[in-house]
Amino acid sequence: MEKLELKYEGKAKKVYATDEKNYYWVAYKDDATAFNGEKKGQIADKGEVNNQLSALFFTEIEKAGIPTHFVRLLGQRDMLVRKLDMIPLEVVVRNIVAGSLSKRLGVEEGFILSQPVVELYYKDDALGDPMVNESHVAAMGWAKLEIAKEIQVMGLKVNEILRNILAKAGIDLIDFKLEFGIDNGKVILGDEISPDTCRYWDIKTREKLDKDRFRRDLGQVEEAYQEVFRRVKEVLAGQ
Ligand code: C5P
Repeated sequence: MEKLELKYEGKAKKVYATDEKNYYWVAYKDDATAFNGEKKGQIADKGEVNNQLSALFFTEIEKAGIPTHFVRLLGQRDMLVRKLDMIPLEVVVRNIVAGSLSKRLGVEEGFILSQPVVELYYKDDALGDPMVNESHVAAMGWAKLEIAKEIQVMGLKVNEILRNILAKAGIDLIDFKLEFGIDNGKVILGDEISPDTCRYWDIKTREKLDKDRFRRDLGQVEEAYQEVFRRVKEVLAGQ
């Protein structure tokens, strides 16, 4: 597999063409941003953790019957993925109130929701990724209504899979963000699943083990990323 021209550079990843036209080479970076790019920094070895942890999660999600773009690892911080026609939406699933939901509803962080909440956001940096509902999605033509519904159902299924694995690792899955794309008319899970895109709290100590340590200057950022990776790897190796 050859890495060809750079197709796209995001905040956390670089995407390259390969010698096979239906596949992309994704290289995960250590760069970290928060608050829509206002805060910038680096988290040592983040690229390695996010690449390899995403690969572990994608593999488990595939096993449970949900298609993902992940094909195989190409190195410590590189993976091969299927090329998707990305849907310009973020699907956020929440089990416990934190972050923007806490602010929006005036509810304390840590409040346990009686059932998972699913939200849709329109991906647009200039607008700060506004929250939208499925009728906005259909009316604006960002995706068909049935696709908007399907990605929310898939988000809830992924929630069950991840929650299960993480619980065994002594971690509460607070919330997370997914992105989807279309390949051959089929909806496929894309992007990454990592401490950059999820909130993880230690079940016992309630310590934050995710990007909130960077966003809120809590220190021990690298250590938290490594700790989640170590625990998840251990759980999956023992299965
Ligand atoms: O900021 P908010 O509380 O809405 O984030 C919900 C979840 O989605 C968090 O786990 C956060 O890391 C993730 N997220 C993300 N990328 C965004 C927005 C949110 O990964 N652009």
